[in-house]
Amino acid sequence: MENIRKVDSIVPDPEIIREAAEVIRRGGTVAFPTETVYGIGANALDDDACRGIFSVKGRQQDNPIIVHISDFDQLEYVTQGLPADLYEVFERVWPGPLSVVLEKKNLGVIPTAGLNTVAVRMPAHRIPLELIRKSGKPIAAPSANKSGSPSPVHASEVFEDLGTKVDLILDGGPAYFGVESTVIMFKGDEIVLLRPGAFSAEDVQRIFKKRVKVSGESPQTPVSPGMKYRHYAPEKDLILGRSEEKIIRACESGNVLFIGSSETAAKLNCESIILGSKNDLYEVARNLFPSFRKLDKSKYSTGVIEGFEEKGIGLAIMNRINKATSGREL
Ligand code: TXA
Ligand code: MG
Repeated sequence: MENIRKVDSIVPDPEIIREAAEVIRRGGTVAFPTETVYGIGANALDDDACRGIFSVKGRQQDNPIIVHISDFDQLEYVTQGLPADLYEVFERVWPGPLSVVLEKKNLGVIPTAGLNTVAVRMPAHRIPLELIRKSGKPIAAPSANKSGSPSPVHASEVFEDLGTKVDLILDGGPAYFGVESTVIMFKGDEIVLLRPGAFSAEDVQRIFKKRVKVSGESPQTPVSPGMKYRHYAPEKDLILGRSEEKIIRACESGNVLFIGSSETAAKLNCESIILGSKNDLYEVARNLFPSFRKLDKSKYSTGVIEGFEEKGIGLAIMNRINKATSGREL
């Protein structure tokens, strides 16, 4: 585990940031926490370095990577810019868990998978912000999991998936939200929500004062290429329990592990992984991906997961659950 360094997430040790920035500058890969999940990053301006990310993750070449920036000058460098009336809004929402798809500039074909657009975001986390500043490079970074696996919320999960294939892992403690950033795109006068995430759809609507359309894309014609792949899934079977009654019945068989709220778990007599209270969906979000990994390590071959209200971060939670269950339900 000689590729892991502990770093304080509030006041990152400048020596370690310098070491990590050096790895980025010479074309290597560094995993780091963000406010959403852990990412694996490389210099976005170096196609060879970005190739490294695809090979370490086993990621499909046609799935573009989000480019992380630390200031608006970098936004101007890697994109054709925002619509003029939106700079003010982005100065309020960034740093934050919102990625926006814009026309690209100065970027090669590898991080953007050959598209003429790029998804950009400014992470609200000291470690990546200082790493970007210190290296002087925008950093292309997908989630730091093996392709298809649940996104990592802890450094130990990055190591579990990628081991020593990644040059350096910065362990800054748990990521804050536990689900990835929200990805949006501007289309005419509307905002298309390509991926629901930590930044709620209600907040997008409130802040931009535009109509928000949830992308109902078909898997054959993805606007956001990453959404077509099987994602976030545990290796064991995961099934959505649509009603409490069905969950209770499944539990009685004794063969399933329940994943869900403390309120529902209290009514069951089977083993459970508690995600949190139904009244605190942020807690549920933080525990969601780690629960998929716990299911895989358990003695059970099947998990039954409860559904949550699609409000606020609940929309992202249900999006990840639906992908992880591939639509299977009780
Ligand atoms: O929270 C996050 O966004 C994390 C952290 C590390 O920042 N990153 C992340 O990256 O989740 P990744 O690669 O796992 O997901 C990126 C998503 C994919 O669904 C991808 O298809 C989409 O963003 N995307 C990237 N570039 C795009 C583009 N030019 N147009 C449309 N979608 C794009
Ligand atoms: Mg990912």
